[in-house]
Amino acid sequence: MSQPNRQAAVVLRDLVKEYVDPNGEIVTAVNSINLTIYDEEFFSLLGPSGCGKTTTLRMIAGLEIPTRGSITLFDEDVTDRPAYKRPVNTVFQRYALFPHMNVRDNVSFGLRMQRVPKSEIDDRVQEVLRLVRLERMGDRRPSQLSGGQQQRVALARALVNNPEVLLLDEPLGALDLKLRQAMQEELKRIQREVGICFIYVTHDQEEALTMSDRIAVMNEGNILQVDTPYDLYEEPKTRFVADFIGETNFLVGTVLENDPELTHVRLDSDQIAHVTNEGKHYPVGERVTLAIRPEKIFLGAGTPPDVRNVFTGTVRNIVYFGTDTYYDVELPGGVRITARQQNQDYTGTAAVVAVNDAVYVAWRSHNASLLTE
Ligand SMILES: Nc1ncnc2c1ncn2[C@@H]1O[C@H](COP(=O)(O)OP(=O)(O)OP(=O)(O)O)[C@@H](O)[C@H]1O
Ligand SMILES: [Mg+2]
Repeated sequence: MSQPNRQAAVVLRDLVKEYVDPNGEIVTAVNSINLTIYDEEFFSLLGPSGCGKTTTLRMIAGLEIPTRGSITLFDEDVTDRPAYKRPVNTVFQRYALFPHMNVRDNVSFGLRMQRVPKSEIDDRVQEVLRLVRLERMGDRRPSQLSGGQQQRVALARALVNNPEVLLLDEPLGALDLKLRQAMQEELKRIQREVGICFIYVTHDQEEALTMSDRIAVMNEGNILQVDTPYDLYEEPKTRFVADFIGETNFLVGTVLENDPELTHVRLDSDQIAHVTNEGKHYPVGERVTLAIRPEKIFLGAGTPPDVRNVFTGTVRNIVYFGTDTYYDVELPGGVRITARQQNQDYTGTAAVVAVNDAVYVAWRSHNASLLTE
């Protein structure tokens, strides 16, 4: 992963955006968020529809006026500065190229409006078309390009202004899966090559995980967690984040006692689970939720592995996914748990375990997270 330098590119302080809807009621789209995004960083705002991602991005761009709070770009307070005076550019999902202009004219449009000398325009357009790998397409019109190529034109049009921060609002949403994956790699390459801060809005967790240096997970106008993809996935701090990023089993219970390294939890289904606590002790009697990723669970019919958490259950469903197989296991007390096994050799577990078989499910203490909300 690239090491972003530590100069703050964007700082949001107690930023709030309220709208008044047609009934006169106040809608809090962004609820007092604080965030520092660094120069050269690929940063994503991730969250479900309506959580405030676009509103946050539009406030950074200057297209929306904050209700309260401040926005700083490279140490300068720009809260009251109009969009065109901010060193940022935005790429939208509906990229709205001019249909009657060729690629070169679409890209150079802004520079021509600013009356940049023609020789400089030509150089900059050539350079940016090379960057997005469209140097041979300059004479084509948008209708003569594929969706991915049109998206590259939109990107070139934003980058040709040499912004210090590029804002991208679900720019790949209109593309099909394969093309989107190819463009994700392209965007990463382009970001590394131009070396500026990209702030990328998406509701697609996989997209955010694969592209970002860091991610802010948002819900209902709040930022719940800001972390690297690895830490978000391995150490979710809330049930929402554990659920939104990847797949997770949740087991609810009550804290029984704490050792120096392990917290013991009596699950509502009456089994005792053991979780690494990294020195953090939970009050005895506190209600907690254990989060365990399906792929961290061992499952089988024979002798279980030598780990702290071993439960027996009954297989209720098996779903073959090609690369993986999912086993839905019922524990005593009716709690369901999903285990996921990679089909490295489809003669292993899958061949010997069938629906209604008794199996063990087992996991290491450090592979579960303890959540308190
Ligand atoms: N002009 C507006 N007037 C009233 N409410 C608005 C307005 N614009 C946005 N909202 C509301 O603010 C909230 C946040 O909207 P926003 O567009 O930022 O969400 P989002 O995270 O970008 O969602 P999506 O993933 O669907 O694009 C939503 O509840 C939305 O209905
Ligand atoms: Mg949006």
